[in-house]
Amino acid sequence: MVKVSNFNKVVFFTGAGMSAECGVPTYRGQGGLWGQYRHEDYACQEAFDRDPEAVWEFHERRRAQAAGCQPHRGHFLIAEWEREMPGVQVVTQNIDGMHQRAGVTRIHELHGSLWRLRCDPCGIVEENHEVPLGHLRHACGGFWRPDIVWFGDCLRRDVLGDARHAIRTCELLVIVGTSGVVYPAAQLAVEARAFGALVVEINPEATHLTASCDVSLRGSASEILPQLA
Ligand code: OAD
Repeated sequence: MVKVSNFNKVVFFTGAGMSAECGVPTYRGQGGLWGQYRHEDYACQEAFDRDPEAVWEFHERRRAQAAGCQPHRGHFLIAEWEREMPGVQVVTQNIDGMHQRAGVTRIHELHGSLWRLRCDPCGIVEENHEVPLGHLRHACGGFWRPDIVWFGDCLRRDVLGDARHAIRTCELLVIVGTSGVVYPAAQLAVEARAFGALVVEINPEATHLTASCDVSLRGSASEILPQLA
């Protein structure tokens, strides 16, 4: 069995499945958000420009849901590894802040965070954990938007660059709970093996990334992660 402590540089690459056992819904598959909501109506700049209140209502529900959930033992274990091993980092597609709530600090949030607000005209970004949000508008009068990556948005270049560097230089990449269908995030995971990492996937199902992995461990995040200790 692969043991995290046998490696110096380790990246945990996580997706929605990492938070599924906390009660945060995934995007695809059974109960997935995109099976219930059209992302064209709630998760793109055009939808926000058309109807910011409707888009906020959707994201306020996401914030309330995430706030009502707790990290599971897999999150706490990753945080413990990060604390004890200076070469451990997290690259996540998740916007729910669950890794940080478990104590992780070296994290690259590829798709941003539900817990940051952005005013694009002013170039201001603020951390905000109010549930519900007291105000949807910035002092300038314009709407805040969640500082997350919607469909059609570009990823932040600095975040993507740092995540790519972490993945290209790691010795072990542990992919947890992602379907691997959203790019460029999925591309990073594919690159790891070409750059010499051992790649382990944790997922109850085979995914688009399975063929790029050395080891596939079938099961849930909270059940399998402790097996790597
Ligand atoms: P998906 O919803 O596409 O995939 C979730 C994955 O988690 C699936 O492969 C499941 O089999 C797996 N899974 C479910 N329960 C699990 C568990 N308990 N333990 C481990 N794995 C489990 O989520 P992502 O791949 O994260 O982007 O989606 C990628 C991006 O698509 C998201 O970041 C989001 C979405 O559109 C944006 O919103 C920009």
